[in-house]
Amino acid sequence: MKIGVLVGSLREGSLNKKLAKAVMKRLPEDFTAEIVDISKLPFYNEDFDTEGNLPEEVRAFRETVKGYDAILLVTPEYNRSTTPVLKNAMDTGSRPFGKSVWNGKPVAVLSASPGAIGGFGANHHLRQSISFLDMPIMQQPEVYFGGAHEKLDDNGEPVDADTESFIQLIADSYAAHVKKNLA
Ligand SMILES: Cc1cc2nc3c(=O)[nH]c(=O)nc-3n(C[C@H](O)[C@H](O)[C@H](O)COP(=O)(O)O)c2cc1C
Repeated sequence: MKIGVLVGSLREGSLNKKLAKAVMKRLPEDFTAEIVDISKLPFYNEDFDTEGNLPEEVRAFRETVKGYDAILLVTPEYNRSTTPVLKNAMDTGSRPFGKSVWNGKPVAVLSASPGAIGGFGANHHLRQSISFLDMPIMQQPEVYFGGAHEKLDDNGEPVDADTESFIQLIADSYAAHVKKNLA
């Protein structure tokens, strides 16, 4: 099972990247997961999909995503929504119309924030787009990873047993969701 992980933060010390890696590490052995670099994608422009105008980064990104069995999205919350870089990646993969690379791929949406509500707003804005993109979404557990700055140490390891078992639950539930909903 090959999983593409998209993280909506480009910063070095990203809490969302830490959470993504912690989940990736705990997936079953028959899963391989990698973080997809979305930092070089240009802002999507419909002119890209007219004859001869497709930037190489966009072509390569779409090809890469097509190769995954499933997707894991991990988003910070920027002003109660997902981040532009992640929305841009989702939009880029969704076009040209009728040729979306997301179609049918199982997905889970996780959000992490130092704040108490764990990026709930970002998580649900992103879910709205994902529903339209016809991706089966993991419903439980919901992952609004609040207080994230206190839950993962400098090495990205959970600081206590409750956090460890929650992250393992995320990984196990995601793996089961992917297997059940494979296109
Ligand atoms: C432009 C901007 C808007 C933000 N808005 C929110 C917000 O609405 N809710 C929230 O919980 N945190 C908000 N934050 C704080 C982020 O949750 C925090 O910076 C977090 O660490 C970003 O995720 P990362 O660590 O993966 O980069 C915002 C940060 C930025 C830069």
